[in-house]
Amino acid sequence: MNVLHASLAEWGLSHIRLRKDMRILDVGCGGGANVNHFAQIMRGGRVFGIDYSPTSVKVSKKVNSSYINEGIVEISEGSVSNLPFEDNTFDLVSGFEAYYFWPDLINDLKEIRRVLKTNGELLLVNEGYKCENKELMKVTEKWAKLGNFKLYSPEEYRVFLSKAGFSDIRLFEQKEKGWITAIASKK
Ligand SMILES: C[S@@+](CC[C@H](N)C(=O)[O-])C[C@H]1O[C@@H](n2cnc3c(N)ncnc32)[C@H](O)[C@@H]1O
Repeated sequence: MNVLHASLAEWGLSHIRLRKDMRILDVGCGGGANVNHFAQIMRGGRVFGIDYSPTSVKVSKKVNSSYINEGIVEISEGSVSNLPFEDNTFDLVSGFEAYYFWPDLINDLKEIRRVLKTNGELLLVNEGYKCENKELMKVTEKWAKLGNFKLYSPEEYRVFLSKAGFSDIRLFEQKEKGWITAIASKK
């Protein structure tokens, strides 16, 4: 996962400005590559990763062991539906290739919004969305069916993010590859 998603993550991250002192949560952190990327720039900030798979948590802890020892990173097992954090904790919550597996999209986004600080941002980066490229859509729809997850159009992203209470929604599409990045704020 870490290698396969690297260029997608790099592209998604190019749309957001990171600060060294941020408090960041990566939801569905998988193998921990994005946590590691965030941790590399932290000076005074902290990065948390959460994933409901014990295997992902184990790998993520291994990949980030030196940062965990330095107290910069914390990885825990848990679900997006019930985040083990206080209200208003994070400057940024990210989800890379993650929402597909969330059990209740709107409520899970509301849960993320709860743990964001006012003016904090949500970053969603996804390889598959309902795009205009018909050839790409044939492939994307096949793996969405296999994985049993739902694809959304940019307009539908706006709708579900608004329903969850987010504002200042910005969408970026990589049309040749069929990638989408959504950034939204808690106001
Ligand atoms: C496709 S992987 C993406 C991993 C990583 N973000 C990346 O880009 O490489 C999705 C991850 O979400 C996790 N996940 C699925 N449902 C979850 C949930 N309800 N709460 C937290 N994590 C979840 C899975 O265990 C898996 O590690």
